[in-house]
Amino acid sequence: MKHLISTADLTRAEAIQILDIAEEMRAFGTREVKKLPALRGRTVVNLFFEDSTRTRISFEAAAKRLSADVINFSAKGSSVSKGESLKDTAQTLLAIGADAVVIRHPDSGAPARLAATDWIGLPIVNAGDGMHEHPTQALLDAFTLRRQICLREGSSPHGKGLDGLKVAIVGDILHSRVARSNLWLLNTLGAEVTMVAPPTLLPVGAASWPCTISYNLDEVIASGTDALMMLRVQGERMNAAFFPNPREYSRYWGLDDARLTTLDASGDETLIMHPGPMNRGLEISSAAADSPRSTVLDQVTNGVAVRMASLYMLLSGDLIKES
Ligand code: CP
Repeated sequence: MKHLISTADLTRAEAIQILDIAEEMRAFGTREVKKLPALRGRTVVNLFFEDSTRTRISFEAAAKRLSADVINFSAKGSSVSKGESLKDTAQTLLAIGADAVVIRHPDSGAPARLAATDWIGLPIVNAGDGMHEHPTQALLDAFTLRRQICLREGSSPHGKGLDGLKVAIVGDILHSRVARSNLWLLNTLGAEVTMVAPPTLLPVGAASWPCTISYNLDEVIASGTDALMMLRVQGERMNAAFFPNPREYSRYWGLDDARLTTLDASGDETLIMHPGPMNRGLEISSAAADSPRSTVLDQVTNGVAVRMASLYMLLSGDLIKES
């Protein structure tokens, strides 16, 4: 059985293969007829126990572009509210004829549990589990970075990693599954990662991660970086005061208008990334989010291609490791 649970499971060759296939899928997305017959007759279930806009819609678009049938399941309004377990919910989907399950869950480890048990025996894609991982977000971020840099250089992205690229991941690292998945994947692809955050928003053990830790965003910007990956402040996961107030957070840790001006004056071609949804005015100003440096919407577009590649590899290919 094959799954995509964590970017830590991917070798460099495997990650590059997904990115290369995503390039082919992206090219199909620009055609008038966007459908491929690759998954005709297969059924993909989007099993979402937590809210989502981008991930859910792009997995749906990805499966449909590959001609799969799609069943969208939202825990809200389902029998989960009557106490139905993850196992029973998943087995119900299997009985309906699912061939693969894309799952988002508030509990870290829920997708891994589905993958490790014999409850359903289907390919599982982790679409974000608690504060643990969001592997397809990291893959689409890497895809976007690689594509942008290669477009700038006029070179082909095929077969390339992100060797020597400097990427700063900024903000609420503690609660971020995006930060964790990006850290593992960026390292695998050869990038140099700096985590920039207030000490209160770094997890215990971050010092042992394969990255540099900084508490000073201005110093990181001044040192020159290829991309600033701004993270959403995840208020819904905070059960304490992690910073004095939003204005203070924005002043010290946000990509505000003043820092955008500094970037523009530097002559650096630093990209501004954000996985979305954004808290405009908190971790990122509107001017930064909408600036020519911003890849925010490009990331969303690329998310469809990366998820097409992931579903294709899981249901038709032989890439992801046996579990
Ligand atoms: N980036 C991301 O996961 O967005 P959604 O929560 O809207 O899916």
